[in-house]
Amino acid sequence: MTEYREVAAFLKAKSKYNPKIGIICGSGLSELSKTMTETQTFKYSEIPGFPMSTVQGHKGELVFGMLEGVEAVCLRGRFHSYEGYSMDLCALPVRVMRCLGVKLVVVTNAAGGLNPNNNVGDVVTITDHFAIPNLGGKNCLVGHNDAELGPRFPPMSNAYDEKLSGIVYSAAEALGFTDFVRPSGTYCFVSGPMYETMAEAKFLRSVGGDAVGMSTVPEVVAAHHCGIKVICLSLITNKVVMPGDSDTEAASHAEVLEAVQKRSTQIQELVKKVVVESRSY
Ligand code: 6GU
Repeated sequence: MTEYREVAAFLKAKSKYNPKIGIICGSGLSELSKTMTETQTFKYSEIPGFPMSTVQGHKGELVFGMLEGVEAVCLRGRFHSYEGYSMDLCALPVRVMRCLGVKLVVVTNAAGGLNPNNNVGDVVTITDHFAIPNLGGKNCLVGHNDAELGPRFPPMSNAYDEKLSGIVYSAAEALGFTDFVRPSGTYCFVSGPMYETMAEAKFLRSVGGDAVGMSTVPEVVAAHHCGIKVICLSLITNKVVMPGDSDTEAASHAEVLEAVQKRSTQIQELVKKVVVESRSY
């Protein structure tokens, strides 16, 4: 297991912060950290044990600071298994957060839309996931179980906190965002880096998937395993092509980044409101 304790000790020695909230920013959603004040930033390259994030649209920085008056740590850029990192390494930032005292993590991602009722630009509150890599043995809990973190056989039926999902929707109501924030949805985790074939997309929809992406689940599993509560928001950046579709374009990273750009400010507002409302939970 990657030495998350050493990374946490390194950060603790250099930072005065004791964050209770962690935020993991998906593709192009890193601007959130710019709204933090009194920040202290570490480039991933300065943190021993941290690899570099290699994806365009991902920054590769860990930022401590105040977000709406709440002590927070924000990861600008995450590690994906398709970059060649082990699932264990994908989980490292979450385990580091746990050592820093984080109790709640807000995970965001850009995802393909499987549910025909959702539109590009919708933000889906994730309340469940379906992860073929996990079921096949590619997950961050395989191997020695570190009992200091959590149990050998953790449940995942309650990985997404119901009360917190409710807080997301109340925040959306307060902000007037209910036309694009969806109260629940299932995220399908696939390895990538290629987008799905039509047959694969049809399969994922048939098992109840609403969104599909190449991240997030490793972090959610690690967080739930070690007792960190999870809020997950997926921004639908493109509609996934299904068999028989003639008017849906093939997925492209440029299209994903463009959709993120359009919703960026509102997602930041939503996350900030959720952070304030769940501060004492
Ligand atoms: Cl269409 N598929 C996957 N796997 N990830 C995505 C996506 C699609 N759109 C954004 N991220």
